[in-house]
Amino acid sequence: MSKVYVFDHPLIQHKLTYIRDKHTGTKEFRELVEEVATLMAFEITRDLPLQEVEIETPVSKARAKVIAGKKLGIIPILRAGIGMVDGILKLIPAAKVGHIGLYRDPETLKPVEYYVKLPTDVEERDFIVVDPMLATGGSAVEAIHALKKRGAKNIKFMCLIAAPEGVEAVQQAHPDVDIYIAALDEKLNDHGYIVPGLGDAGDRLFGTK
Ligand code: URA
Repeated sequence: MSKVYVFDHPLIQHKLTYIRDKHTGTKEFRELVEEVATLMAFEITRDLPLQEVEIETPVSKARAKVIAGKKLGIIPILRAGIGMVDGILKLIPAAKVGHIGLYRDPETLKPVEYYVKLPTDVEERDFIVVDPMLATGGSAVEAIHALKKRGAKNIKFMCLIAAPEGVEAVQQAHPDVDIYIAALDEKLNDHGYIVPGLGDAGDRLFGTK
C-alpha cells in the first residue's frame, strides 16, 4: 500500500488557510497556490539522490554534493494542476512538464483522456502528478494510469487538499504511488466538492467564477 504524507509545515498550513478563505481574490489565490507548491516541492524532493563532485572554494579544493542528475517530470492534470507548476519549477527548473487532460464521459461518468503530451523519455523519468484537489480520485487514478500506460515507472501524486475517498481510490488503483498532501479534509459533499475544501480550484485560479 502506498504511503500518504501530510506536509504540516507551519508556512504551508498558514498559506493554505488563506487559499481556503472565500474572501481571497484570484491574484492572491494564484500566488498562494504557487508558493505552497514551491514549499511542497521542497519537501517532496527530500529523497533525491546526491553525488559528490570536486570543486575549488576560494580557500581550498573540496568535495561537495550536487543532485545526481535525476530526470524529473511534472504532470499537471488540466486545468487546475497548471496553477502548481511554476511554483515547483522554481526549485526544479530543469524538470520537463507534460500535460494530461481528462473529461468526464456523460454516460459512464468516468474520466476519459482528451489530451496527453509527455516528455519523450518517459521511461527514464520520475514523475510528480499534480492537481490541487484530490476529490473522488477519478482524475488522479486515470492520469496515473495514462502515464503508466506510456512507460512511466516511478510516480508521486501531489495535491493541496485531499478527501479520504480520493486517497483511498488512488491507493487502491495505484498501491505503488505515494501521495503528498497539505491537508486531509473531512469528506466530499453531494456535489463532489471537498468539505471544507476551497471551492472550485480551477475557477478560483483562473477567475472564471
Ligand atoms: N475539484 C475542485 O476544484 N474542488 C473540489 O472541492 C473538488 C474537486
